[in-house]
This record gives sequence, C-alpha cells and structure tokens, in this order.
Amino acid sequence: MFDFDHVVDRRGSWCTQWDFVADRFGHADLLPFTISDMDFATAPCVIAELHRRVAHGVLGYSRWQHDDFLSAIAHWYQQRFAVNVSPEQIVYGPSVMYMVAQMIRHWSQPGDGVVIHTPAYDAFYKTIEGNQRKVLALPLQRHGAEWQCDMTGLARLLARDECKILLLCNPHNPTGKVWRRQELEHIAALCQRHHVQVISDEIHMDMVMDEVQHIPWSQVGSDRWALFTSASKSFNIPALTGAYGFISDQPDRLAWFQALKNADGLSSPAVLSVAAHIAAYRHGSAWLDALRRYLHDNLHHVAQRLNQAFPELNWQPPQATYLAWIDLDPLHIEPYQLQKGLIEEQKVAIMPGYTYGQHSESYIRLNVGCPRSKVDDGLTRLIAGLTRCRAARLK
Ligand SMILES: Cc1ncc(COP(=O)(O)O)c(C=O)c1O
Repeated sequence: MFDFDHVVDRRGSWCTQWDFVADRFGHADLLPFTISDMDFATAPCVIAELHRRVAHGVLGYSRWQHDDFLSAIAHWYQQRFAVNVSPEQIVYGPSVMYMVAQMIRHWSQPGDGVVIHTPAYDAFYKTIEGNQRKVLALPLQRHGAEWQCDMTGLARLLARDECKILLLCNPHNPTGKVWRRQELEHIAALCQRHHVQVISDEIHMDMVMDEVQHIPWSQVGSDRWALFTSASKSFNIPALTGAYGFISDQPDRLAWFQALKNADGLSSPAVLSVAAHIAAYRHGSAWLDALRRYLHDNLHHVAQRLNQAFPELNWQPPQATYLAWIDLDPLHIEPYQLQKGLIEEQKVAIMPGYTYGQHSESYIRLNVGCPRSKVDDGLTRLIAGLTRCRAARLK
C-alpha cells in the first residue's frame, strides 16, 4: 500500500542529511546515514493536509490550545498506548530539545547536575552543558542484546545534593532500549525518594520494533515530571518544527507558559506542524505500522549481512528506533582510522560512537531510515571499510 522502496532525491532540498553532510564529515560527496531523520516522504494523509492548509493561503498567527489538536493527541495515546491523557497537562513548544532545555532551566540552577544514561543522544550533553549544568553520566550496561540500568549506581547519583533532574530517553537513543514498566517504576521510586524531577524525552515512542510496549512516563509518575515528544520522528516532519508534551503539576505549567510566552516571546505555534500532527494522529496509523515493518526488516537486513561478513559481531537489531547501534569491538578496529577510511575511501557518512559519549568509541550508529537499496549500498561500503581496516591491522 505504501512504497518505502521508492527513492526520493533529497539533494538540493536544504536537508541536513544530504546537503550539509560536509559540516560534520568534512566532505560533501558522501552517502549519509547520520542525523536521525528518514529519506521517506511523510504519510500521504499528512501531505494531503499540508496541501489543504497551504491552499487556504492565509498563514497568520495561530493557536494550539483547541480541541482539534488536544483531542488528536488524546486519540493517539489511547489508540497506540492504551493511555488516557489529561488534556490540561498538555504543553506545546517548537522542538523537543527546546522544551527539554526550558525545563532544565526551570528545575535547576547553573552548577546543578542532570543525570543521563550513557551513551546518550549528543544534544543531551550540549543542552545540559550549554545551560551551565553538569552531566551526571550513568553508563547503561549491556547484557547480550539487552541494555540495563544499574539501579544502585543510579540511586547513588540521585542522592547527590547537586542532582536535580533525571533526563530520561524513553525509548533510548542510541541503544534502542525500550524501558520496561518495572524499570520505570523502580526509577520513579528512586527519583521520588531523592526529590529529583524527571524529564522524559519520548520522541522515539512510536518506533518500537519488537513485541515490547512503550510505557509513557505518565504511567509511572513520580513527584513532578515533564514528558516531551512529537510526531516529528515517526512521521518524518522535524523540519516543520513542533513538539508537545505533558507537565504534571500546575505551578510548573504556569511557569512554562510564562517562560515561553513572556520571557521568550513564543506565542504562535507553527500552524503547519499543528495541522500535520492532527492529520498524523487521526489518520496516520496504517502508514506508521507499514513503515515500522519496513524499518524492522531493514534492521534485520543489517543483522543478516553484517553477521554474515563478520560472525564475531553477532549484532542484534534494537527494540526501538531505526538506528543500528553496532559494537565493532570484536573486530579490534581503531575508530578514527575506520572513520577516515569510510569517509575518504568508501565515501559514506556513518555516525562514530564517540559522538554519544566517552565509552562508545568502538560503536557506530547507522541510520537505516531509508529505502533498502540505500541500506544495501551503505552496508557494502561499511563492510568494505571494515575489511580494509582489519586487513591493515593484521599486516
Ligand atoms: C532522543 C531525541 N530527542 C530529541 C531529538 C530532537 O528533537 P527536536 O528536533 O524536536 O528537538 C532527537 C533527534 O534525533 C532525539 O533522538
């Protein structure tokens, strides 16, 4: 019904993925598997709604606090997660990371600590440190294909005086971990005990590939929390700019509106983003499910080809996200040398693990949100790069 094999040429559309690959990788002529957006056109129902709204022609100031938007969110949460949302808790913002940053400023002071699980999405470090807060890193522990949280280590960090916030990534980028209810409840109890506020970034919530279920933080709660998300990852519309979320307590919400409307002068949402969210959440389920199946198959394709070339990797697809987080440690490859070979010889851009934290040098993050033909091309280049690198080491 939906053709995800279809290749759309994104070059010349000012896209970060292709047109600005040189910014990060130094060369412009690379096949990119980098920033987490997809090479697919968004859902037909979203495109149709955007056409309709643009055809109206008037794009004046707008609002988001209306039933069309709020009930579309409630509908999505009910349909996808069997969760009843509290519409009065809903807030809106230009992007998930903007909302995270705003909440960090609200719940902490410069010099305070924010706990994150590492490896972490690189913007987490930037936002915490860019706001003069301290990263309190808790390494996730890998047991086979599963990633686990060291609850004793977490309790120790949360107990520190300087620790004010836990910034959770649920599901987790880059490992693809889907947090289980029991783990979330344990974390909530620890945060409650130590009066640590929780910000849950759930932008990857729709991209769960396995049998496991995404559990929104609102289901486990804790004292005070904020959950931020968007349809931007799932429906590939981040450049429309628009995100939303839930803030548990009214005083925090009032402070939020004060910060956005008065301090930052942000009153009107991006109307095309609001329209896209409504269309996606009302009519986008079938497209999203077909997309998830395609991405699931992409990830299994990566596993099949990579493990065939290098059985010692025994790479397993993640529980969530279209990001393949691959540990190359068994190949004993020098990461900077590998990047040089991938960029200069294979002409491919794949995120190096060190982007996501100190102890991830042996990893790469391959974004497979693209047609299978591109995944195959990328895999061929990656396998060639790894083979050359390994041969150089063995010489
Ligand atoms: C965990 C996570 N949060 C936030 C974002 C970015 O969201 P936004 O562009 O809405 O700030 C990303 C994008 O990769 C992400 O992976």
